Amino acid sequence: MKELVAELSKGIWTLPPFPVVLVTVDRNIMTAGAFHFYSFKPPSVMVGIIPKKYTYELINRENEFGINIPTMEQIALVRTCGSVSGRDVDDKYSKAGVTPFRGTKIKSYLIKECPVNLECVVVHKVGFTGTHQWFVGEIQAVHVDDTYTRDQPLMFWSGEYRKVGEFLEKAW
Ligand SMILES: Cc1cc2nc3c(=O)[nH]c(=O)nc-3n(C[C@H](O)[C@H](O)[C@H](O)COP(=O)(O)O)c2cc1C
Repeated sequence: MKELVAELSKGIWTLPPFPVVLVTVDRNIMTAGAFHFYSFKPPSVMVGIIPKKYTYELINRENEFGINIPTMEQIALVRTCGSVSGRDVDDKYSKAGVTPFRGTKIKSYLIKECPVNLECVVVHKVGFTGTHQWFVGEIQAVHVDDTYTRDQPLMFWSGEYRKVGEFLEKAW
């Protein structure tokens, strides 16, 4: 039997897990669970940033960001970049033990150890701001490691890290 739940935020917390990503701007890294694709044409993605985060200040300043996809083996990196603010450390790359490389289309750095890196330029800031400000970024360049497979990313939601689920069947 279904109940009409009084606590409306439960509608959000019951959602299935999302891929967790590392957002890079300038020489800073931030963990984000609020991430989705936005459009195939032009290829674009969106990321939700809480306005008090240092990354929010950086994206507004640089109008660009990198999306770096961590793997299941990189939980420690995800934890560090999701608990330390770039305002409090000189260099989060050194703090997290990863290697920066410069974007080819953006000035910001990307994470060499992540198997996928997207270089994005901000094309839209969503007008409705709740807890998060959503930035839409058009993809300018894509780097994919030849060993990357779709079951490697790390999933996250509702306070839990998870693996990508099993393949069931082709949709079309
Ligand atoms: C698993 C996980 C997911 C997170 N998702 C988001 C998110 O989607 N948006 C956000 O603004 N902060 C998110 N955070 C919090 C930031 O990553 C964290 O506060 C970080 O230290 C901010 O860094 P900065 O101040 O250098 O920008 C998340 C943290 C974790 C651990």
